[in-house]
Amino acid sequence: MLWPDDAAIQLADGRPVWLRPLRAADADGLMALRGRLSEETVRRRFLRRLPPCDGRLAFELANVDQQQRVAIAAVPAPDVRGPILAVGRFHADAQSTAADGGGEAGPRRAELALLVEDAYQRQGLGRALLQRIVDEAARRTLGVLYGSMLYDNRPALRLLRTSGHPLHVAWYGGDVLSIELSVQAS
Ligand SMILES: CC(C)(COP(=O)(O)OP(=O)(O)OC[C@H]1O[C@@H](n2cnc3c(N)ncnc32)[C@H](O)[C@@H]1OP(=O)(O)O)[C@@H](O)C(=O)NCCC(=O)NCCS
Repeated sequence: MLWPDDAAIQLADGRPVWLRPLRAADADGLMALRGRLSEETVRRRFLRRLPPCDGRLAFELANVDQQQRVAIAAVPAPDVRGPILAVGRFHADAQSTAADGGGEAGPRRAELALLVEDAYQRQGLGRALLQRIVDEAARRTLGVLYGSMLYDNRPALRLLRTSGHPLHVAWYGGDVLSIELSVQAS
C-alpha cells in the first residue's frame, strides 16, 4: 500500500520511483536486492562483508513495526509487486519510547541506515529517501538520527552534510565515524 499522498519521485535520469512502507512480505525482495548490490555498497551499508543470501537478516530487516522500527522502500511502480530499489530506515533506541517524551534523558534517538542499489545511485534517490526518513522521525518526535559509517564513505558523508539538517561527525579511532543528524521537520 502506498501512502495516499505519494506522488512519484522523478530521478535525475527521468526514471520515476515511489516510496512506500516496507512490509514483512518484503523479505524476499530484500534478498533479491542484496543479490544486485556491489560488494562496495554492501561494505558501506553494513561495515563488513555479508553472504550473498542471508535469509535470517532479510527477515529481521523486513519485520518492522513502522513505529519504533521504521523502514521505507523505494519501488519502480506504484504497487506492491516489483523489485525494491532502496531502503531507508531508523530504529529507535529502546529507552526512547513515545511515552517518555525524551525528558531529562535528552532528545529521543534512533539509528539511521540508508541503502540505494548501485544502478539507482547518484540520481537523487538517497536524498529523497533521507528527507522522507527525517520527516517520519520528526513525526515520531525523535530528535537525533545517529549511525556509524566508514571514514571513506564519501557519498554518504556528502549526502548527510548537504541534507540541510545539522550534522555532527566524530571519530573515536579505527575506520569508522560516528554521525548524528539533528531531526528538523520540513
Ligand atoms: C549513500 C547513498 C545512500 C547515497 O544515495 P544516492 O541515491 O546515490 O544519493 P543521491 O543521488 O541522492 O545524492 C545525494 C548527494 O550525495 C552525494 N553523493 C552521492 N553519491 C556520491 C558519490 N559517488 N560521490 C560523492 N558524493 C556523492 C552528493 O552530495 C549528492 O548530491 P549531488 O548529486 O547534488 O552532488 C548510496 O550511495 C548508498 O546506498 N551507499 C551504500 C550504503 C551507504 O553507504 N549507506 C550509508 C551508511 S548507512
